[in-house]
This record gives sequence, C-alpha cells and structure tokens, in this order.
Amino acid sequence: MRWVGNAALVSFIIVECIRSFAPTQAIRLSVGRFATPKVSSEPAMVFQEAPAFHNGIQCPFSSEDKGEAESVCDASAVHIAMTLDTVYLRGSIAAILSIVQHSDCPQTLIFHFLVSQRDVELKTLVRHTFPYLRFKFYYFDVKLVKDLISSSLRRDLEQPLNYARSYLAEILETCIQRVIYLDSDLIVVDDIAKLWGTNLGSHTVGAPEYCHVNFTKYFNPLFWSNSTLSSIFESRTPCYFNTGVMIIDLAKWRQQDYTRRIELWMEIQKEGRIYELGSLPPFLLLFAGLVKPIEHRWNQHGLGGDNAMGSCRNLHPGPVSLLHWSGKGKPWLRLDSGKPCPIDSLWVPYDLFTKTQFADE
Ligand SMILES: *[C@@H]1O[C@H](CO)[C@@H](O)[C@H](O)[C@H]1NC(C)=O
Ligand SMILES: *[C@@H]1O[C@H](CO)[C@@H](O)[C@H](O)[C@H]1NC(C)=O
Repeated sequence: MRWVGNAALVSFIIVECIRSFAPTQAIRLSVGRFATPKVSSEPAMVFQEAPAFHNGIQCPFSSEDKGEAESVCDASAVHIAMTLDTVYLRGSIAAILSIVQHSDCPQTLIFHFLVSQRDVELKTLVRHTFPYLRFKFYYFDVKLVKDLISSSLRRDLEQPLNYARSYLAEILETCIQRVIYLDSDLIVVDDIAKLWGTNLGSHTVGAPEYCHVNFTKYFNPLFWSNSTLSSIFESRTPCYFNTGVMIIDLAKWRQQDYTRRIELWMEIQKEGRIYELGSLPPFLLLFAGLVKPIEHRWNQHGLGGDNAMGSCRNLHPGPVSLLHWSGKGKPWLRLDSGKPCPIDSLWVPYDLFTKTQFADE
C-alpha cells in the first residue's frame, strides 16, 4: 500500500530561487514536514498536497494490482519524462497535476524525473505533493554536456538540464521502449493516453511540425554556405518543430545512436559556431522533416510571449490539448508580479504553490 499523507498537515518547503534565477548548481533545497524555521533567511516555497486520483474501471490492471512488485518496466504504463529543477519547480508541479487530472487512467502513468543534483529533498517533495504518483528519479550528470556546450551560449551553460532530453535513451531503463518528453512550462488539458497512442510508424520522433516557419533562421550563414554541413538537409524538407513535446521511440533511438550523433553536432558547433540557439538545433539537424507530424493541439506553444513581461499571446486557432508557455514569460512569474496575461488564468487551477515562507515565520 502506498503511504497517504494527511492533506491538512502536510506542507513542504523548498528554498526558492525563482526570483533570483540563480544557476541550478548554486541552489540549496530544504524540505521539511512543516515549515520549520531555518537558520538561514532564505525564503522557501510551500506546496499543498494534490488530491488523490484513481483509475477508472475501464483501465488496464497495473503491475501492482496483479500482485507484482512496482516496476518502471510495466509494459501497460504510459511513460512520461520531465526534468525537475528548482527554477521551474512550480511549473513542473502544475504540469504533473494537469496530466493526472485529465487522465482517465492516472495510475497507469509513470513519471521519469531527470535531476541535476542528487538531492533526496526534491524527491521527498514530489512524494509528498503527489502521494499516489508512480515515479522514478534519475540523476543527469551535467558534466556530460558542459564540455560540449560552446561557451558563447551562456544561458545554456546555466541550464544544462535543457540537454537532458538528448540522453533519455541512455538514462532510462532499456525496458522502456517509448517515452513522452515534456517541458516544465506547460499544462495538459486532455488525456495524455491519446498522445501516447500515436502511431509513429517508421519514425523515431513524433512532434507537431510548423512548415510555414522560415527554417533558415535556425542556422547561421556559416552553416548554410558549408555544403558539407548543410547537405544533411539535402533529401528532405525540413520543418521547425518544438522539442518541448515529443514522443520518442527509444528503441529506434538507441539503435541509431542518436545521442552520439547529437554530441557530434555539438562538437561541430563548439569548433565553429553554426547556430545561435542551444539544445534545439541538433534535434533539427537530425529530425527536421523526418518527425511523425502530430496534431497541433498537442503543443499550443509560444504562450510565454517574447518578453519577460508585457507581451501576451493568445491561443492559436483550433482545438487545444496542451498549452505551452514557451518563450520568456512564465505564468507564475507574471501572476506574482501582478501583471498576468489573460491566458495565464488557464494555468492557475493547476498551481499547488501556496506561499513563500520566510525563515522568521
Ligand atoms: C528566411 O530567413 C533568412 C535568414 O534570416 C532570410 O535571409 C530569408 O530572406 C528569409 N526567407 C523568407 C522567405 O522570408
Ligand atoms: C565545413 O565544415 C566542416 C566541419 O566543421 C569543416 O571541417 C570544413 O572545413 C568546412 N568547409 C569549408 C569549406 O569551410
């Protein structure tokens, strides 16, 4: 049986860093059963416990129902991978809640969380915020990519977890053949099982494609003028896709060793800059024009707007299954600043953050 917390009593704290945008390495976490005053004067984030959720009767039996030990290899499970760090924690918690709330069979979901620090506190926080959640933590050694990130991309040096999605096939158990990768600044408002059921055919990656976007701008003239490099797009029509929502066939990925191929492109980038963005271009190099196109409803992206504050975006026309605040603005920051965008009201129902706690409270 799973431990079920007392919803009224359980509250958890985590040292807040959202406002300061400190690099993840510098962040210290602190979690306690109660808002224990800390010696330091750092503010802490307090989350409330998510409501309980259960499978409907139509759902497949989970390995536990069959009396088997809890296993991440459960073949009937829907596997979801996300990164977890303190900067986006409030977003991640909202994303998880939105996924389980809209799932008909929430107990079939298994979350795989990639973290850059070996801290038990973050794990404890997730366990207590979601007592019913099936999940596993994986340590992603950011040293793996630090040497590969060109020093000109300062922002990415501070966010090496952005690159963790390239290593999913190596980090997750080999028994896991498929995974949905999701960013932390999104909410799902539909049953994720529908996305999971996508037929990828012969493709390795599935994602919504945007073929009207000018693809040229993702690489610089040095790349386009070097035919050895740009010939990679020769026999395909490359289209932009967003790497914040992807279905990945991990078996095919491992077979083709895409992780090494991404690293090769990162090395080329390090030697002579061929693009300006961080983790996206290697994915475009390998998969643009080759992804299995998925309905646009599964990534209504760009809701963050262009500037941190003030530039609001609306939903694109058409049905919506997933809202993605990609771009610089994040709903929790705008809400805290008292200047939310209209779209941010759709994020609010999933926010489990209760308050910032100061040490002298
Ligand atoms: C696409 O972008 C490139 C580089 O930014 C620019 O030179 C080109 O004119 C653009 N093409 C179109 C069709 O807008
Ligand atoms: C094209 O790029 C490759 C890899 O960076 C490099 O070895 C080669 O010298 C470049 N070719 C030209 C003509 O610049």
